[in-house]
Amino acid sequence: GKVAVLMGGHSAEREVSLMSGAGVLAALRRAGVDAHAFDPAERPLWELAHERFERVFIALHGRFGEDGTVQGALELMGIPYTGSGVLASSVAMDKVMTKRLWRAAGLPTPDWREVSSADEAEAAFDALGAPMIVKPAREGSTIGLTKVTARAQCAAAYRLAAQHDPEVLCEQFIAGDEVTCAVLGRGAQARALPVIRIVAPDGNYDYQNKYFSDETRYIVPCDLPAGEEAAIQSLVLAAYRTLGCRGWARADVMIDAATRRPYLLEINTAPGMTSHSLVPMAARAAGLDYEALCLRLLADAAL
Ligand code: DAL
Ligand code: MG
Repeated sequence: GKVAVLMGGHSAEREVSLMSGAGVLAALRRAGVDAHAFDPAERPLWELAHERFERVFIALHGRFGEDGTVQGALELMGIPYTGSGVLASSVAMDKVMTKRLWRAAGLPTPDWREVSSADEAEAAFDALGAPMIVKPAREGSTIGLTKVTARAQCAAAYRLAAQHDPEVLCEQFIAGDEVTCAVLGRGAQARALPVIRIVAPDGNYDYQNKYFSDETRYIVPCDLPAGEEAAIQSLVLAAYRTLGCRGWARADVMIDAATRRPYLLEINTAPGMTSHSLVPMAARAAGLDYEALCLRLLADAAL
């Protein structure tokens, strides 16, 4: 039957989504799937039901795509879709809600404060210490994020984050190795893929270095001690299950250089599928090429 690849959309990550969607669409077509691009920013979503699409591959990132809203609309239309359901999608979109659930489950995540003014951001800096990350609670691809090293930078960092979301969080920065780990599958079948270690120019894995730089290095299989990789995989699996994720997701983790303890930063329920993206790299390291990965995700589409 007909498959829609949802891409584009209204979020700040529209450009990334168009790259993810183009990759997924081409791969599904190569595999013989009757796949069609569908941009919810250009057409009302209910046309999916009208045009009798049987399944949906969600290649949208950020709000109105990764946050449970599109998932809810698809539930109402009765069209199975890739990835997490409504609840896990909307919790995972909100970094504060995510951290509260992880902390309640006893999973490590850096200490944080929710702030609603520049003054509160400065107070958070006094409490958490330097460096500190200031970021919008519901955004992706490091958009609106600042690493502050001095109190005087807090006000501008707050204002930038607040442009993207009225909900802003300040988070203790964990200095050490930056890694990411994806999970595929649902429930008891969920499995972690190999961990990737990311080495960005100047340690700055920002929007440019994520999607356009050829200098960012991705180390997979990673060069961490085997015990550390396994510990990160089981931590990320626990993080995935705590939120009730399904299908796939990718959690970003920092390893404290001093203690070697891993800390969960966030989990992405519709991770990037661009040529520079991490889930395809991890899948390839596990013997699953890009096309096979797309087919597997589509086969897991559910309501
Ligand atoms: N938010 C981007 C798409 C990612 O996590 O891959
Ligand atoms: Mg993210």
